[in-house]
Amino acid sequence: KDRSTIDVLLKDSAVRDAQGNILHSRSIWRDVTERKQAEEQLEKARDDYRAITNLTGDIIVRVDAEGRWTFLNDGACEFWGRPREGLIGIRFADYLHPDDQQETMAAVEEVMSGKSVVGLVNRQKTPQGWRIVQWNAAPIFENGRYMGFQATGRDITERKQAEEALGKSEEKYRSLVKNVKLGIFRSTPEPFGKFLEVNPAMEGITGYSRDELLRMSVSDLYVRPEEREAVLEEVATVVEKATRELNFRKKDGTEIVVSDTKVAVRDDTGKVLYFDGIIEDITERKQAEAERWELEQRAQLASRLSTVGEMASGIAHEINNPLTAVIGFAQLLVRKDIPEDIKEEAKIINDSAQRVASIVKRLLAFARQQKLERVYADINDIIESTLGMRAYAMATSNIQVVTHLDPNLPRTMAAASQMQQVFLNIIVNAETEMKLAHGRGKLLVRTETVDNIIRISFKDDGPGIAKENLGRIFDPFFTTRKVGEGTGLGLSICHAIVVEHNGQLHVKSKLGKGAIFIVELPIIAEEKQLGLPEPAPDDSIKIGRAKILVVDDEPATLELLSQILTAEGHEVQTTEKATDALKRIKSERYSLILLDIKLPGMSGVELYQSIEKIA
Ligand SMILES: Nc1ncnc2c1ncn2[C@@H]1O[C@H](COP(=O)(O)OP(=O)(O)O)[C@@H](O)[C@H]1O
Ligand SMILES: [Mg+2]
Repeated sequence: KDRSTIDVLLKDSAVRDAQGNILHSRSIWRDVTERKQAEEQLEKARDDYRAITNLTGDIIVRVDAEGRWTFLNDGACEFWGRPREGLIGIRFADYLHPDDQQETMAAVEEVMSGKSVVGLVNRQKTPQGWRIVQWNAAPIFENGRYMGFQATGRDITERKQAEEALGKSEEKYRSLVKNVKLGIFRSTPEPFGKFLEVNPAMEGITGYSRDELLRMSVSDLYVRPEEREAVLEEVATVVEKATRELNFRKKDGTEIVVSDTKVAVRDDTGKVLYFDGIIEDITERKQAEAERWELEQRAQLASRLSTVGEMASGIAHEINNPLTAVIGFAQLLVRKDIPEDIKEEAKIINDSAQRVASIVKRLLAFARQQKLERVYADINDIIESTLGMRAYAMATSNIQVVTHLDPNLPRTMAAASQMQQVFLNIIVNAETEMKLAHGRGKLLVRTETVDNIIRISFKDDGPGIAKENLGRIFDPFFTTRKVGEGTGLGLSICHAIVVEHNGQLHVKSKLGKGAIFIVELPIIAEEKQLGLPEPAPDDSIKIGRAKILVVDDEPATLELLSQILTAEGHEVQTTEKATDALKRIKSERYSLILLDIKLPGMSGVELYQSIEKIA
């Protein structure tokens, strides 16, 4: 009536009489418009659903109760690399990695019991090889009957590989942090600080366990806790990363030097959250450096002293000859019958020249080359007798002397009088310095055996030695004393004597903290001295008048000796040349011949040997 069309379902039937004649027909018309529409909608929904499943790159499948594929989206077909027709009806298990069968089947059982499975991972055979897929699956039930399951899968092969790589590199770093010898830590920024994390090397370096470290304050490790604040301030304000050498104290109390490098880690507002740092125990390196430095210093000193020594001996010998003349003639003058005032002046010349002579003598002692006469000496005895010599002077200067002399100190071969001179110089220096600095003092003298070496130390509480002078005090003529009060030769002579004993003399001192002088002597077993000739008994006879030949290349010396000996009543001949002397000796007899050792052309010794042959 409203002109719209409808779908009808027509059912005709004949109505018959008993004989089977058709009486009339009956038609039943049913309006099926709605039912038809519903079916069309369902079909459309299926298409939509399929279209949607094809939008995703993931795998979407449906499997029947026998485990055969009944539905696969485009993503699934693409994944397994086959057209849909080739996959429908195939068992999904055919594509499963054999090693993953068991776990996957267990999951399927779960699904069959009505549960959903989330996150199952297995490997699938694809044209690109085995790929890793992560699955979510849910069962399909119809009227309480299990019909199979549907599942979505995602290829996570790349993600897995990335994760694995990351895991490996993380493991690498973790083992690096764990096994490295450097201490690695994270600490909070407040002045005392807490450790947030420490690696095992931190335990080795500090001696504390990880638990102890995490409980204690960072500043507890510092020998000077204030130092940490300064370090943090530097890192936080001036530079982002700072490396410093710090003094740490280990759990057992030993001090170590560490190199500490810190970086500040900040939040978005720039506030320091924590510090990440690395420390390295450089104690041994520092010690080795210090030792090397000391060795270098000693080597430098030794070579400098030997150069200066050669020069000194050269100068001393050069001065000696003219000095002999100055002293000799000055003394001759004094004895002569001359006006008193001139005599006084001659005396002054003599006294001053004597002073020069004593300096020359000490210079020669410093530059000594001759071998010393050694005895099997007890160093303690030498120390005691030396201290005895200064006992009175020290007492009047308020200097207290404390000795720690090792009663078991072995003896060693040493030139006792030279050693005494060494000790005396060191003691007098300490005495002088302490008295000058504060009119009193304390001197500690110690002897001990250290590694087959006798160590003698003299520790005073005087003014100490400035760093810039430490390397120079063994140099000849280095002195801080006033003119006339010190020659600066004392320690250089000490050094020469000790080195000649194959020992070492060194000093440790800080300005204001006193000084300690250390003599180290090797322990040398007793060696029997070659019997030296006994000095001849004095059976000299006075000869009234002797004929004397004096040989010397120094005219002043010849003149001096000639004057003195002539005044004594002798007949004196002089010559400057060895050859001339030899000629004379061949033709004349002399009671006495005086030879200079050093002569040009032929030495005094050679001349002596030639004379012996004639005689
Ligand atoms: N115990 C000491 N304390 C401080 N300084 C010292 C000590 N011993 C030596 N010195 C320094 O070493 C210098 C050299 O000493 P030395 O060679 O004995 O010469 P001198 O005693 O004639 O000055 C001294 O002038 C002094 O500066
Ligand atoms: Mg001195």
